[in-house]
Amino acid sequence: MADKARVAVLISGRGSNMAALIYAARATDCPYEIVLVSGDKPNAPGLMLAEAEGVAVVRLPSPTKDSKGCFFNDLNGVLRKASAEFVILAGFMRILPDAFVAGWAGQMINIHPSLLPKYRGLGTHQAALDAGDAVAGCTVHLVTAELDGGPILGQCEVAVLPDDTVDRLAERVRIAEHQLLPRVLAEYIR
Ligand code: GRF
Repeated sequence: MADKARVAVLISGRGSNMAALIYAARATDCPYEIVLVSGDKPNAPGLMLAEAEGVAVVRLPSPTKDSKGCFFNDLNGVLRKASAEFVILAGFMRILPDAFVAGWAGQMINIHPSLLPKYRGLGTHQAALDAGDAVAGCTVHLVTAELDGGPILGQCEVAVLPDDTVDRLAERVRIAEHQLLPRVLAEYIR
């Protein structure tokens, strides 16, 4: 397929959703290619995985309180240099400056482990268990200045089992994320 959309992925940790995108992009009819992986943790395990899979990786030093502005300027430069058309936040654990978000309006997408608008922020699985929810899940949405509040592009429900723990529920939600994110990104790009 000619003219695949150029996608960059930002991570902070293991990068299992990033891996799902890399593998989905190997299908010949996938409308995007993963051109760059970067993030805020130069030692994130996901960066090593991306390198092993032949994807370009840029390691930036972790931002400190004082260097946050510079970090996002540098990151923006890295994304522009890679000619990224879409930026996926796949476990990128940073609050983004408004100017950074505004520069990627309609082109930046996040994956969140709850059925938004329920449970924004951290601790989503515990919150679902505490509330006695019968159904949990995950959401893919556009990134706006409002944390986990942008327009929803897709969701996947995951049943909560009677003996669920945070870890067990998180494991199944992650399986759902790995299906949802590559599919919704393809639909959005098409
Ligand atoms: C996922 O649960 C995602 O929803 C959240 O951060 C986690 C990242 O996991 N934003 P991984 O690094 O992709 O395994």
